[in-house]
Amino acid sequence: MGTWRIPYNQPHFGPRERANLESVLAGGHSQGDGPFTKKAERQLRELTGSGHVLLTGSCTSALELCALLADLRAGDEVIMPSWTFSSTANAFVLRQATPVFVDVSPETLTLDLGAVERAITPRTRGVVVVNYAGFGPDMQALDALCRAYGLILFEDAAQAVGATQSGRHYGTFGKLGCYSFHGTKNIVAGEAGALLTDDAELALRAEILREKGTDRSLFLRGEVDKYTWRECGSSYLPSEFAAAVLMAQLEAEPHINGRRRHIWQRYQAGLAGLARAGQLALAAPLPQDSGNGHIFWLQCRDAETLGALRGHLLEAGINAVTHYVPLHSAPAGQRYGRTVGPLDVTDRAAETLLRLPVWADMPDEAVDTVLEAVSDFFASPVRPQTQATTS
Ligand SMILES: Cc1ncc(COP(=O)(O)O)c(C=O)c1O
Repeated sequence: MGTWRIPYNQPHFGPRERANLESVLAGGHSQGDGPFTKKAERQLRELTGSGHVLLTGSCTSALELCALLADLRAGDEVIMPSWTFSSTANAFVLRQATPVFVDVSPETLTLDLGAVERAITPRTRGVVVVNYAGFGPDMQALDALCRAYGLILFEDAAQAVGATQSGRHYGTFGKLGCYSFHGTKNIVAGEAGALLTDDAELALRAEILREKGTDRSLFLRGEVDKYTWRECGSSYLPSEFAAAVLMAQLEAEPHINGRRRHIWQRYQAGLAGLARAGQLALAAPLPQDSGNGHIFWLQCRDAETLGALRGHLLEAGINAVTHYVPLHSAPAGQRYGRTVGPLDVTDRAAETLLRLPVWADMPDEAVDTVLEAVSDFFASPVRPQTQATTS
């Protein structure tokens, strides 16, 4: 990360993170469910309007909680995009359910609702929407589709903290939503996540599952005399160290996401001419304050152009990166999953998508440098041929 003139991503840490960590060290409560956990959960409820928020050790853990809470069984099917991270599918495969991979829409690289409907069978129990890059499909339409077929809507909003659609935060449309605070995300706690729900009964069960299947949280609140093993759960609480850093990051959320949004909009405006000329494709435009600038992606005409553009940027010291090997083409995806319909948009994204650097402290001049380097590449009649690689 340190050798790049312009790295792909860098967390924004300030003095509050250090002060909060020192207070954990001084206070002696370092395990989960301490004061910072409670404060961060309250802060996330206020930010998102979600009825209940439970911090978890990761978004992966929150997704695993979703699969446990849904009581999934062997043979159940869960529809999801193939254009996602392994955790989206792992959570359900761990419960012996089958991930059913469908395509995404080209404008947002999030679920194509027509493809979702075509994949529904009598075994379908739920749909996982992945809010890639802080975008989503029409969430009300997706919710209506799930209700019409009696399916649970899960939201893998790992990348969408602070992003909204029609004024509502991603992570709050479905029955259960999941956030990530991994070191590569906008709001960083090293490794942490959150589970969101408006359903009080599910929240209570999630608290038990998160604490090794015990009602320890109720005990700590004085609601039971002794705590005991109630359900088959696991260890899904983050430590207070992670919660302490998270709390400082949540306080800085308006600044972090505000800067990232600003950079995202500058890239979008700066590359609009190349998109109009058919040299590259961009995401659908976003209302000014609705995205979170998590990822800025562009798609080249073909894999060769992507490889050459990436090589050109790397030579200029700019770390621009490709993204997923789609799950339907990965070894575990083929072993555990099933694919419905052509996945042309997904396959094309895997071959042609490039993510440009975005981070809160990225100076405007660095954004200009990236824009100039991309423009120079497309203006140059002779292009270097460099092979694309995934990172
Ligand atoms: C779409 C998606 N889901 C899940 C995860 C997993 O998040 P975590 O690292 O917090 O477990 C990620 C992280 O990259 C992600 O991008």
